[in-house]
Amino acid sequence: MEIKQVGVLGAGTMGAGIAQVFAEAGLKVMLVDIDSNMLQAALGKIKKSWQKAVEKGKIDDAVKAAREALLECSGDMSGFKDCDLVVEAIVEEIGVKQKVFQAMADICQEQAILATNTSALSITEIAAATQRADRILGMHFFNPVTVMKLVEVIPGLETSMSTTEAVVELVKRIGKEPVITKEAPGFLVNRILNPLVNEAALVYQEGMASAEEIDKAMKLGAGLPMGPLALADLVGLDVVLKVTEYLFKEFGESKYRPALVLKQKVRAGHLGVKTGKGFYDYKK
Ligand code: 3HC
Repeated sequence: MEIKQVGVLGAGTMGAGIAQVFAEAGLKVMLVDIDSNMLQAALGKIKKSWQKAVEKGKIDDAVKAAREALLECSGDMSGFKDCDLVVEAIVEEIGVKQKVFQAMADICQEQAILATNTSALSITEIAAATQRADRILGMHFFNPVTVMKLVEVIPGLETSMSTTEAVVELVKRIGKEPVITKEAPGFLVNRILNPLVNEAALVYQEGMASAEEIDKAMKLGAGLPMGPLALADLVGLDVVLKVTEYLFKEFGESKYRPALVLKQKVRAGHLGVKTGKGFYDYKK
C-alpha cells in the first residue's frame, strides 16, 4: 500500500513537526486541531521555518510554495476521510486517545492506517477501542521532529505485518530511520532516556549543582548533545512527568519514581520552553 495523503491530529510541538516533515517529503497533509490558535501558531511556525530555509539558500521560492500548497489545516477531522494514514499527536491520556481513535476509525477509509505518536502508552490498549486493531500502530517521532532522524515503529498485539511494513517504508521515504520495537512502557528510547532525565532532576533537587552545571557536566563528561535538564525543558516537563509516572506505574519499581521537583514545576505551570520557564528561564 502506498501512502500518498496523510493526516495529523494535534497541532502542538510534535504534531506541527510531523506535519512539516510529511509536507517536505511531498505528501499531501491535513493538520487538524480543535484549537484554532494552536493551528495558526503551528502553521506560522512551519512557514517561518520554510522561509528561513529559503533565506539560507537550502530551498527556492517554488519549493516553499509547493510545500505550502501541500499543507491544509482544519478544525475538524472530516478531512481525514481521504487520508491513507493519520498520525495522532494529542495529550497523553489513554481515555482521550481511545475516544479519538474511535472517531477516526469511523471517519477514515477501511484500509487507512491509524498511528499514534504516544511517548509511552500501550498501542494495544489504544487499538482495542476500535474495530481495526490490525491497522493501528505506534509511530514515535522525536523532538525537534525536523532534526531528529529516528522514528520508533511499534506494532501492537494485533498490528498486521503489512501495516508495519507500510509505515517502515513511509519513514524511509520522509528521510528518517525506522527502528521497530516491541510494545513495552516507554518503548525503547524513553525507557532509557527518561530515567536519565529524572535522575538529573533528582540531582538538581538534592542541590548537588545548578541546572547549568548539571547540564554542562553531562554534555562535556558524557558527550550528550544537550544537557538532560535543557532537554526536559525542550520536550516539556508535563510530557516528561507523564512518561515517568507511566513507567513507575507499569513497572512498579522505585527507580522510575518521578522527582518531586518535576511535579512541583508542572503544578506551577513551569513546563519548559513552551511556557517560557522550566529548569531555565526563557523570558530573560
Ligand atoms: N526546533 C527545530 N529545529 C531546531 C531546534 C528546535 N527546537 N533546535 C535546533 N534546531 C535546528 C536548527 O535550526 C539547525 O538547523 P539547520 O542545520 O537547518 O540550520 C539544526 O537544528 C542544528 O541546530 P544548532 O546547530 O543550533 O544546534 P545543535 O547542533 O546543538 O542541535 C539539537 C540542536 C538537535 C536539538 C541537539 O541539541 C540535540 O540533538 N539534542 C537532543 C535532542 C533529543 O534528545 N531529543 C529527543 C527528546 S525525547 C523525545 O522527543 C521523545 C518524546 O516522546 C518525549
